[in-house]
Amino acid sequence: MIRPAVLADLDALVRLENVFPGDRISRKSFRHLLLHGHASVVVYDEGQRVTGNAVVLYRRGSSSARIYSLVIDPARQGRGIGRALLEAAEQTAAAKGCVALHLEVRADNEVALALYEKAGYDCTGRIDGYYQDQMAAQRLRKGISKNSIKTRGQGGNGRKSGVYT
Ligand SMILES: CC(C)(COP(=O)(O)OP(=O)(O)OC[C@H]1O[C@@H](n2cnc3c(N)ncnc32)[C@H](O)[C@@H]1OP(=O)(O)O)[C@@H](O)C(=O)NCCC(=O)NCCS
Repeated sequence: MIRPAVLADLDALVRLENVFPGDRISRKSFRHLLLHGHASVVVYDEGQRVTGNAVVLYRRGSSSARIYSLVIDPARQGRGIGRALLEAAEQTAAAKGCVALHLEVRADNEVALALYEKAGYDCTGRIDGYYQDQMAAQRLRKGISKNSIKTRGQGGNGRKSGVYT
C-alpha cells in the first residue's frame, strides 16, 4: 500500500537513499521534511518492508511543486511501484492545490526518463553540470489537476497501487 511516511520509516528512507551514488538525502533532512518541511513524503509499504518513496516539496506562494526524490528498492524495481508512487505524488500535490509538478533527473537515467515521459512529463530544459559528478540534468514538468489524475492498477505484480489521498 501507499501511505504517508512517518518517523518510524526513517531507517527505510535512509536505506533507500543508498541507491544513489551521491546527492543523498540525509537522515536529518528526512526528519526535517517529515516534521517541519513543506513536503509530502509517501512510501510504498509491502508490510514487512518499505520498498519505495517519493518526496514532493512545496514552495510558499507557488502552485508548482517539485518532485525531490523518487526511489524504489533495486530488488523491487520494474514492477510498477515507481509509476504508482509517482501517481500518488501527483495526487498528493494536486490535493494541496498545486497545478504543476517539476523535477530534475540525470540526463543519463534512461529508466527514469522513460517513466516520466510515459507519465506525461515534458522536457523544459537541461542544466549542465548539475550533479556532483558533473552530469547534466533534464528539467521536466507536468501540469496536474485534481480531476485529471487517475490511479491505475499497478502492473507487474498485479497489486493495486493503494489509493493515497
Ligand atoms: C526510476 C525508478 C523510480 C522507476 O521505478 P520502477 O518501479 O522500477 O518503474 P516501474 O516498474 O513503475 O516502471 C514504470 C516505467 O518506467 C520505465 N522502466 C522501468 N524499468 C525500465 C527498464 N529497466 N528499462 C527501461 N524503462 C524502464 C518504463 O517506461 C516503465 O513503464 P512500462 O512498465 O509501462 O514499460 C526506479 O528504477 C529507481 O528507483 N531508480 C533509481 C533511483 C532513480 O533513478 N530515481 C529517479 C530519480 S528522478
